[in-house]
Amino acid sequence: VTRGRELYQGKAKVIFETEEPNTYWVSYKDSLTAGNGQKKAQETGKGSLNNIISSYIFKYLNDMGIGTHYIKKISDHEMLVKKVDIIPVEVVVRNIAAGSICTRLGIKEKRVLKKPLLEFFYKNDSLGDPLISENHIELMKLATKDQVMQMEGMALAINKILKELFLNLNLKLVDFKLEFGIDTNGTLLLADEVSPDTCRLWDVNTGKSFDKDLFRKDMGSISEGYIEVINRLKGRLGES
Ligand code: C5P
Repeated sequence: VTRGRELYQGKAKVIFETEEPNTYWVSYKDSLTAGNGQKKAQETGKGSLNNIISSYIFKYLNDMGIGTHYIKKISDHEMLVKKVDIIPVEVVVRNIAAGSICTRLGIKEKRVLKKPLLEFFYKNDSLGDPLISENHIELMKLATKDQVMQMEGMALAINKILKELFLNLNLKLVDFKLEFGIDTNGTLLLADEVSPDTCRLWDVNTGKSFDKDLFRKDMGSISEGYIEVINRLKGRLGES
């Protein structure tokens, strides 16, 4: 497979065409952004760390019967994925209160939620990714009712699988963000990335963060945190 024309440049990844039908080439960038792009930095090797972790997680989810866009890892910072049309809705699942739910609703950080909380955000940088409901999704025709139901079901299933995986690595899966897309057959697939840029992971014993909060809150080295996640995944799942 060879890399073709650049299709899309996001904050963390670049997507290219390939000569293979319905196959895209994803290159993970070393850039770090937080607060909808307000805080920016570069961290050499960060793209590779996220690509490696995303590859582990997508492969694990595929093996567990969750449909994802992931095909294979082709280098440390690149993967091949199935072509999908991204639904412009960010699906967030929370197990423990942290981040925006605390500032938005005054819920105390670290509060363990009785059941996983699902939230939708409209993926729109200029509007600052606002919180929306299923009614807004319907009104704005961002997805069909059936797709919303499928996204909910898949997000909760993924939460169960990943919560258990990370707990085995002595990490609490606090919350995470998912994006879904529709492939050329009309099938809904998990897309984008699943990495410490898009999850909160806390060490079970120390409570230390191994995710992008290290950057958001200037709490320590992103690379050290992400490498620790890779080492724990490697110990459990083998070489990627
Ligand atoms: O900021 P907030 O607390 O709403 O984030 C919830 C989860 O979703 C966090 O794990 C965060 O990393 C992730 N997220 C993301 N991309 C966004 C917003 C949130 O990956 N645009």
